[in-house]
Amino acid sequence: MAREVQALGYDTDVANARVTFKAGLEAICRANLWLRSADRVLVKLGEFTALSFDELFERTKALPWADWLPVNANFPVEGKSIKSKLFSVPDCQAIVKKAVVESLKSRYHCQWFEETGPRFTIEVALLKDIATLTIDTSGPGLHKRGYRKLSSAAPLKETLAAAMINLSRWHPERMLLDPLCGSGTIPIEAALIGLCIAPGIHREFAAGQWPIVPERLWQEARQEAGNLIRRDLKLQLRGTDIDAEVLSLARYHARQAGVAEQISWQQAPLAELHTKQKYGYIICNPPYGERMEDIQVAEHLYQEMGQVFRPLDTWSFYVLTAHHGFEKLFGRRADKKRKLYNGRIECNYYQFFGPHAPRPNLEA
Ligand SMILES: C[S@@+](CC[C@H](N)C(=O)[O-])C[C@H]1O[C@@H](n2cnc3c(N)ncnc32)[C@H](O)[C@@H]1O
Repeated sequence: MAREVQALGYDTDVANARVTFKAGLEAICRANLWLRSADRVLVKLGEFTALSFDELFERTKALPWADWLPVNANFPVEGKSIKSKLFSVPDCQAIVKKAVVESLKSRYHCQWFEETGPRFTIEVALLKDIATLTIDTSGPGLHKRGYRKLSSAAPLKETLAAAMINLSRWHPERMLLDPLCGSGTIPIEAALIGLCIAPGIHREFAAGQWPIVPERLWQEARQEAGNLIRRDLKLQLRGTDIDAEVLSLARYHARQAGVAEQISWQQAPLAELHTKQKYGYIICNPPYGERMEDIQVAEHLYQEMGQVFRPLDTWSFYVLTAHHGFEKLFGRRADKKRKLYNGRIECNYYQFFGPHAPRPNLEA
């Protein structure tokens, strides 16, 4: 995610599963439209030590809430607390709500707020006694791109699929294949990346209703995103799966995402995978075998993956699974492993690097 924020032109700090950056209001529009692996974009109003409810109240009240919230703002307060003295989340939420109301009262000189206007979801997050106060600019999580209308069993979140592709450093010149594609999230996200389509282009965001963000900034950001789309490119993306029903979902989602022409879908068991292409990428998320009766099926599939992928000696393979015996069953040690969470499930992202493709011969 930090790499994505840097690509938008901002310097980043990374800590505690968050990427923080300083930017003007236009970044609210650009970050929401462009970030592929972020869950949401928050405005950080303040960060301070809070060891007592008094401290939490006073320091929250002192923050410039009325700079952001109009008089009719709807401002629910969410909360979380980890390893902190103030561990009662409902109490922290109530204190913060009261402090924000007091802060708004002194600016707007009124006693009661109807909260009938745009939504400003506030979060108080306590970590080791440090309180971070934020306002959510995104609304529904950024994985909701707007193309997935139907659900299937165990779909991958769009944000995680995009992160897997970005971590693989796949280049749009190369073929990308997901032989266990399910509802198609990986090939669809690859098409969006390859064509440089901003993932949020088809949706709205909470901050779209905020008076502080001028409509002009949204228009400019959407125009920038529209201008950058590379419709001229022809990508080589393929999704296959044994299940015809999930493939019809994949086709539907690809049409919704506007990338149907870029991906070929095919019903086929993994065992029948073959390709003459070289230097391609397989990126996939096989079943993990969570239930006892499924484990053997998953383990057999991992062995089959080892056999089927072996002849593809110029290809790179990237596999996300929660099964710790994957490398043994696959028959090869990963060149790199990385812990990633699929929802609450702790997984490893196994990365097997293929050789570099030869550079094309250039003649003067
Ligand atoms: C965890 S799901 C993949 C989810 C997918 N990434 C998505 O976003 O929807 C695993 C998929 O593997 C497929 N599958 C299982 N065994 C298979 C096999 N032997 N050959 C091909 N596909 C298989 C299932 O039909 C299922 O769609």
